[in-house]
Amino acid sequence: LSTTEVDISHVEVGQAITVLWRGKPVFVRHRTPEEIKEAEAVDVKELRDPQTDQQRVQKPEWLVMVGVCTHLGCVPLGQKPSDPKGEFGGWFCPCHGSQYDTSGRIRKGPAPRNLEIPAYAFETDTTLLIG
Ligand code: FES
Repeated sequence: LSTTEVDISHVEVGQAITVLWRGKPVFVRHRTPEEIKEAEAVDVKELRDPQTDQQRVQKPEWLVMVGVCTHLGCVPLGQKPSDPKGEFGGWFCPCHGSQYDTSGRIRKGPAPRNLEIPAYAFETDTTLLIG
């Protein structure tokens, strides 16, 4: 099965990149301290798909997720600085308005589940291996 190696050394705090893995977009966001704090402060009991932020990351500053909305499969916006990020500061799906938080968890709209976390590993501090 295919793995994809990604150099993340150039991704600054607050930036995000999208890479293709098995034909799907994978979002890699270098989260800011504020985004991490927001993600960790959420009461999981309020969530539709209850997961703590810690369950979704290996290193708090790096969020790695499949960029496919769990409703009907559109690609949510939120990767580019100019993109709408929704009310929860994460991603906004333009198809039917699902909104994801800074941990990629579904917070509003029709999507049933959080954005999926692919298998990945940090090969080094600046190289990700996805898959
Ligand atoms: Fe994203 Fe419907 S596909 S809200």
